Amino acid sequence: MAVHKTQVGIVGAGPAGLLLGQLLHLNGIDSVILENRTRDYVIDRVRAGVLEQGTVDLLRAMGVGAGLDSRGLRHDGLYISVQQRRHRIDLADLTDGRAITVYGQNEVVKDLIDARVATGRPLNFEAGGVSIDGLDARPVIRFQHAGAEHEVRCDIIAGCDGFHGICRPSIPADALTVYERSYPFGWLGILAEVGPSSDELVYAHHERGFALFSMRSPTVTRLYLQVPPDESIDNWPDDAIWDEMVTRMMSLDGWKPNIGRIIQKGVTPMRSFVAAPMRHGRLFLAGDAAHIVPPTGAKGLNLAASDVLVLAHAVKAFYQRGQSDALDQYSDVCLRRVWRAQRFSWWMTSTLHRFPDDGPFDLQRQIADLEYLTSSRAAMTSLAEQYVGLPPEVSFESAGLSGG
Ligand code: PHB
Repeated sequence: MAVHKTQVGIVGAGPAGLLLGQLLHLNGIDSVILENRTRDYVIDRVRAGVLEQGTVDLLRAMGVGAGLDSRGLRHDGLYISVQQRRHRIDLADLTDGRAITVYGQNEVVKDLIDARVATGRPLNFEAGGVSIDGLDARPVIRFQHAGAEHEVRCDIIAGCDGFHGICRPSIPADALTVYERSYPFGWLGILAEVGPSSDELVYAHHERGFALFSMRSPTVTRLYLQVPPDESIDNWPDDAIWDEMVTRMMSLDGWKPNIGRIIQKGVTPMRSFVAAPMRHGRLFLAGDAAHIVPPTGAKGLNLAASDVLVLAHAVKAFYQRGQSDALDQYSDVCLRRVWRAQRFSWWMTSTLHRFPDDGPFDLQRQIADLEYLTSSRAAMTSLAEQYVGLPPEVSFESAGLSGG
């Protein structure tokens, strides 16, 4: 058995684990990152792509903003389509110039892996049989790699291994409260090799169900359709997908998505989930390991970034000043933002989707809700300030970064 020592053992090399590793590195704090998947899997998995202003600022302040600055697409507004009319919400105008940036999560992960490799600090893909132990006093992570057994002894474990990871289930069930809601639908998502016909996102309410127009680059369109929760992708030949996309998105002014070759497709379930507290002894959960939001509010990756900023601040205070109060407050500070994002994501989801039990009353109520939203500056401001992201929980300076 090979024994390693580090300050922070990070389980998971998704956005949360990689961001945390980089923030700790910038503060001179050691970490080991372990990931059970392959490097290619982590980079290639298609995920969301909307970065809040604060996430963009954070990546830049960390020195990993070059890809984002050259290939990210800044959007100053978005559209809500109701009754086949598109209404623009001017995010930047309503929030003193804040905006969102469309940049795929896989691009973010690729940039962070490059930054990690450049630091020379350990990042192990394909770590098998990962388990954690000693959470009360002496945390250890055990795993197999290249046929050998390894043990990492650390002061703190960061559980950044996602919803299906091993960290959250390592906490005794009676020490966690779980809050959960599942939705009676899922999203069928596609990537198509065709230039986007709108340079901003379109969230479309339609009596046949929700549809969303997004993009990844000037030549790749990303689109989603509300479908039944356990829908098989085999029920959706490409022509049927395009017919339904066009039906739900087409507006009276003639706008509709450009059609092209579909290069990727899949169905994602929708759920809201929070496990509290986000800490057990010396284990700190961050990102999807602790909470899941339905994608309608585009908050998942941004919440993960917010968690690790708070965690980096707390870990820095622990090592540099010997203070553990920020670690003690970690869960409460994160959960405040998590619940605000849960509320926003639930509201976007329930306002825009058709529910199987809804009748004609509910359809008219949704239409009235959305027509109010898109005609009231107060209502649009409320959406805009949440969509571009609420202010950070801790300052960038307190997490060891300049600026922000
Ligand atoms: C995406 O581009 O993948 C995307 C955009 C907005 C959302 C969810 C996903 O709300």
